[in-house]
Amino acid sequence: MPHTCRRLIVALVSLAAISRAGAQVGTLLPVPTALQLGEGRLVLDTTFGVALVRHNDDRLRRAVERFVARVEDRTTLELPRTPVPAGALRLDVAGPGERVQGIDENESYRLEISAAGATLSAPTVVGAIRGLETLLQLITSDATTHYLPAATIDDTPRFRWRGLLVDVGRHFMPVEQIKKTLDGMAMVKLNVLHWHLSEDQGFRVESQRFPKLHELGSDGQYYTQAQLREVVAYARDRGIRVVPEFDMPGHSTSWFVGYPQYASRPGPITVRRAWGGADAIFDPTKEETYAFIDRFIGEMVRIFPDAYWHIGGDEVEDKHWNNNRRIARWRRARGWNNEQLQAHFNRRLTRILAKYNKRMVGWDEILHPDLPQQTVVQSWRGTNYLRDAAKRGFTGILSAPYYLDHIKPATDFYLADPVPRTTDLTLAEQALVLGGEACMWSEFVSVETTDSRLWPRLGAVAERLWSRQDVTDVPDMYRRLDVLAGRLEASGVRVQSHSARMLRKLFPAGDLAPLESLLTVVQPPFFGQATNGRQTTQLHPLTRVVDAARPDPPARWLTERLVRRFVVNPFDSVAHDSLVTLLSRWRELTPQVQGLAQQTPTIGEAVPVTLALERTSVLGLEALRYVRSGEKPDSAWLATAAADLKRYEGPLGLLRVSVLPEVRKLVALLQGVVQ
Ligand code: ACM
Repeated sequence: MPHTCRRLIVALVSLAAISRAGAQVGTLLPVPTALQLGEGRLVLDTTFGVALVRHNDDRLRRAVERFVARVEDRTTLELPRTPVPAGALRLDVAGPGERVQGIDENESYRLEISAAGATLSAPTVVGAIRGLETLLQLITSDATTHYLPAATIDDTPRFRWRGLLVDVGRHFMPVEQIKKTLDGMAMVKLNVLHWHLSEDQGFRVESQRFPKLHELGSDGQYYTQAQLREVVAYARDRGIRVVPEFDMPGHSTSWFVGYPQYASRPGPITVRRAWGGADAIFDPTKEETYAFIDRFIGEMVRIFPDAYWHIGGDEVEDKHWNNNRRIARWRRARGWNNEQLQAHFNRRLTRILAKYNKRMVGWDEILHPDLPQQTVVQSWRGTNYLRDAAKRGFTGILSAPYYLDHIKPATDFYLADPVPRTTDLTLAEQALVLGGEACMWSEFVSVETTDSRLWPRLGAVAERLWSRQDVTDVPDMYRRLDVLAGRLEASGVRVQSHSARMLRKLFPAGDLAPLESLLTVVQPPFFGQATNGRQTTQLHPLTRVVDAARPDPPARWLTERLVRRFVVNPFDSVAHDSLVTLLSRWRELTPQVQGLAQQTPTIGEAVPVTLALERTSVLGLEALRYVRSGEKPDSAWLATAAADLKRYEGPLGLLRVSVLPEVRKLVALLQGVVQ
């Protein structure tokens, strides 16, 4: 039965995909700026080679080699692996682009594909890298051949800064995981890895000048300098900048395990295990603090060539400076509050960074009139901070709506525009908005679960930041995110295979099908609910049922779509019958999940949400029947339905019924019917 449930979802989703897609132009993600379909197709066969007809360098050749390998994977054709003198694909690249990729790097490209051949023209190697990704997405097949459809594409990003923050401080992510994430980012044309490298819970880089930073602050989980350089080079090869973040003055406990002399309180200080709040922050009153930071940054700038440097600056709790009498006295003597003291700290950092030709980026708390205008403000507390920064002449990056770890559906990310149509910013102020960054904070994310929390929703953010403002068709986005999930899975990113693998940890043998079915429709709680009943330290294993669950699970969008159709037309029998099938399956999961819970206690955590899903499904089925039959529910039924749906809103054993709002819509159809 549960197998049927999964298959049904797959069948319904792919039916929609087939009816809309046609050739693979319909699955491009992000949607290109301009696309015109032509006549015919360029067939891929063993003669398909890539010619570099103008600029030619090592980075471009490596990009071509990766491209060819991926075409081979897809087609099983044995192809010329390196550039050839005359190939069906001509790469006409004008030059290498910037020595260190900056925000003004030209990433545009033009593709002309006809039956006779294809030309990819780009002003820079990065533009060519973007175009090669588009070409890979265009590969289409029928019963006998693989081909590229004839088309002309002109493409250029809407925003210059399209990033992803990866937090390796709270949970470390090994180099291979970072590389896999960079590959995925390149697939959707993201161009900044914002690498959050130090936190209260861990200091993740090797420092030769201050070795106690990584030796004592990392539990042995840090990147060597060779590894850091390797990642920077790997990212550059994919047209991705690496902006390091060393968060200060707060979120910095791990620095002081080895160097307590720069902290707001005396040592000994240990790596913090609990989330939220620091055990110590930097002492901004001591000259030695700045000398230390200067020497540290002076060492790190040799590894990170990007022109931008993230200093964090978020969530500086008053208590740390207030509780240190010397610091408090020093501050009062200047007539400052803590905010002004932090502004002083930031001004000193700006001077240090200027020495190394770095522009400062910080979270929106750093916004202060005393900072130089080239400071970049990254808004996380709300979109209004981005607006306020722009109004005050500061450049900015939007992150507030793009917190992937908050487990919201992809729609929420997709429809959040850094410069919405309704903006009251002038054109000059709008130009100060560089773009946006999705954030993957890792309180509840491990190396094993991060793929499933990043993808495919990150694709929605990537498209928002690359494509035109009017590309906002949510159903079409979901259709293409599904294709993206498949592409990622093929490249080793665990998007769809995540749940089964994680469940196997809890339940190494036996039938996982009921749980897998459950996890198509239940999801982890939103961030604010995540600590509800969960041990909140770095040491807690992230292998529970909630960790096997996925954000925005596949049945949620499917159900939303079907309910939308049913609400418009209750006699849409496809919508009605599909909903009945889904809800009936979910109603039946309880005894199966309860049976598994008898075999292992960790599965017991899934029982409350399964019971809630059963009751929710019953309500949905009854609502469908009432609407269809015209029969009126009595007020007691409506009152019980409302009470139950309210009761299931919160997390149940750390899981949520993702389709609860959809069943609520069905029940709401009956509201006007009673009396
Ligand atoms: C943040 O989420 N504290 C930047």
